[in-house]
Amino acid sequence: MAHDPRGHMIAERLALRHPLAELAGWDDRVRLMVRPRRYEHVLRVAELACRIACANGLDEARAYAAGILHDIARDLPDAELLRLAPPECDIDSAHPLALHGRAARTLLERWGYRDRVVLEAVEDHTTGPRGGNPVAACVYIADVSEPGRGVNADIRELALCDLNAALNRAVVSKVTYLQGRGIQVHPRTLLAYHALTCPALRVAPESSPAR
Ligand SMILES: [Fe+2]
Ligand SMILES: [Fe+2]
Repeated sequence: MAHDPRGHMIAERLALRHPLAELAGWDDRVRLMVRPRRYEHVLRVAELACRIACANGLDEARAYAAGILHDIARDLPDAELLRLAPPECDIDSAHPLALHGRAARTLLERWGYRDRVVLEAVEDHTTGPRGGNPVAACVYIADVSEPGRGVNADIRELALCDLNAALNRAVVSKVTYLQGRGIQVHPRTLLAYHALTCPALRVAPESSPAR
């Protein structure tokens, strides 16, 4: 596959203004860890997370870094995910793919990555931001709404002017969708739901999730 220079170009541009200068090396490692189509998704998420951060006056370099790193464990076998991120609940045990955010953080820490904001954004991207980390919100929204997915264009556009409102819409609609179908909501997603800053927009019940 021909190497796509976009990731390096943006990383280099950001590195001029930010101390996360080693990102280009991580970009190479991600490319080796994921399938080619996943890598295209990763680049789109990083670029969109960067745009969302810029539009909302947030840390665009960390948003880009977390976007590049978020799916580094996404194509690992289930057994490896379970080893890197021991299950915390029944959902994790039944669906190890739900662990790929936590597993990615474990891998990155083992490889020496130390930026707490970026690590937390990577960890939370599967289940939802735990609150207090706007970079995590940028990556979560970029992941669910990057153009290649073909859905959630409304959330993408909203995030480019009001990240909080977009996060509320994304998390509430996810919880509502799952509960409406009797699917258990991941406990970490419930934490993200309760961390939302616009409670007036909540439409799901406050009690434990429907099964
Ligand atoms: Fe992911
Ligand atoms: Fe992703």
